[in-house]
Formats: sequence, structure tokens, C-alpha cells
Amino acid sequence: MKFARITLSDRASAGVYEDRSGPAIEQFFAERVADEIEWQRVLIPDERAQIEAALLRLTDEEKCALVVTTGGTGPSPRDVTPEATRAVLERELPGFGEIIRVQSFAKVPTSILSRSTAGTRGASLIINLPGNPRAIGECLPLLLPAIVECLDHLGHPRLKLRADGQP
Ligand code: MTE
Repeated sequence: MKFARITLSDRASAGVYEDRSGPAIEQFFAERVADEIEWQRVLIPDERAQIEAALLRLTDEEKCALVVTTGGTGPSPRDVTPEATRAVLERELPGFGEIIRVQSFAKVPTSILSRSTAGTRGASLIINLPGNPRAIGECLPLLLPAIVECLDHLGHPRLKLRADGQP
């Protein structure tokens, strides 16, 4: 199974700080999914054209079943991930962003600043996550059941989840 993670950050892509969110996405799936996953890894600045090009390559050419982005979902002028994502989506799945905002709110009142969305392009599922490394562990557990079901609906082999503590 081929998955991709894209970190959108002007500063991390310029080497000002280390990207911890991208690796956290991979670690989450390594801990929770028993299937072998081949990862495509992208770290680029908050440039809409570059984000769209990366999404198109990872879906249409690389045929990744799942593409998870992190960063660029907020209200700052440079945050353009949702716009770039919507430009390539064929069908939007707004529930992913909705549940992240609602479920995170009690613990992280700023969760409503994220405009993250999700949807499908061909047989690929694209999901936006906020850029904070902590947000990865806060959001992905909420989404995992729907990710498993969605990839199944898109025609991929059903992901096998690990029972807690199993290798
Ligand atoms: N959601 C969760 N679960 N955890 C977080 O730390 N950060 C919030 C929000 N959603 C956050 C979160 C903040 S402060 C912002 S500005 C927005 O996500 C957008 O972040 P981004 O621009 O890095 O994507």
C-alpha cells in the first residue's frame, strides 16, 4: 500500500526548524496499521502551485491510496493548503475537517482556526491536518476508522489494524 505525507511549511522547508509533523504521521500508521506501507515524503513551502503539483503527482502518477498533508490550514495569508486541496479534489469529504475541529475544541480552543478539509481524487483519499506536531496525535485517532472504510470504498485492500500492543 502506497501512502504519502506532505508537510507545508515555509520555515521547515527552509531548514529554520525540523519537520516533526510529517514523521509523526508515519509513526502513527506504523503503530496502528499492520500492512506494509511504502511512504512518499514531501516537504515544501506554503506555495499553492507547488502544493497542487505535489497533490497531482502523488494521486495521478504515484497512485497513493492516502495523502495526508500537515500545515497551512489556518487563517494566515500564507495558509493555502485547503484552497490547493479543493482545486484537485473530485469529491469533498467535509466530515474529516468538521470532526477534527469539533472533537479537538474542548482541549484546544484554537482548533476552529483550522480550515482543513478532505476528499477524493480518483482512488486517492486526501486529508488535511493542522501543522502543530501535537495535532497529528490528536486528530488521526479520530479519523482512522473512516480512513479504513474510505480506502475500502475506493477499491483498495482493507487496512488491517493492529490489536493494542501487537507488533
Ligand atoms: N487542532 C488540534 N487538534 N491541535 C492543534 O494544536 N492548532 C490550531 C488549529 N487546530 C491545533 C488544531 C491552530 S493554533 C491553528 S492556527 C490552526 O489549526 C491551523 O494550523 P496550520 O495553519 O498549522 O494548519
